Amino acid sequence: MKNLVLIGFRGTGKSTLAQRLAVRTGRVRISTDELATERCGMSISAFVKEYGWAEFRRIEQECIENLQGKENLIIDCGGGVVENPENMSLLGETGLIVWVHASLEDVLVRLLANEQDAQRPLLSQNDFRTDITENYLRREPLYKRYAAFSVNTSTHTIAECSVAVDAMLGK
Ligand code: S3P
Repeated sequence: MKNLVLIGFRGTGKSTLAQRLAVRTGRVRISTDELATERCGMSISAFVKEYGWAEFRRIEQECIENLQGKENLIIDCGGGVVENPENMSLLGETGLIVWVHASLEDVLVRLLANEQDAQRPLLSQNDFRTDITENYLRREPLYKRYAAFSVNTSTHTIAECSVAVDAMLGK
């Protein structure tokens, strides 16, 4: 069975949905952030501070390459996977891509509650609000382009999104 690949901006609820879907469908959940953190040997923040984003993206791509040939997984992707078209063609070959979407307002509120998250350093030198807003708006069309299906965690609960994804898988 094909993998289920969750993409979407940070703070949209991908990881919570992935965990829920793993229980619901009996599939194994894999997080590219967890794989990358293991490979980096430190938190994403510490790694990016020391080596920069380009190096993190290279490691992230290696983690995605290593998933080739695996099936029946729920792959919970870091928000930046769409920055690299190579990642998206690899993920698209082995899985069905679902966009986990939330409004910018909700994303800002959710991320602000956890601003010092060591797995989510800011992507630019801008202040928090500008950084998140610019990257959210820039990436929206990318998530939309690559996804076959989408769920919205601003208008629906995680439980409802999980039912919707499961129903879509059954079709
Ligand atoms: C990133 C999002 C993070 C993590 C890293 C980069 C991004 O993942 O991969 O900090 O580029 O937006 P989540 O989307 O799981 O927070």
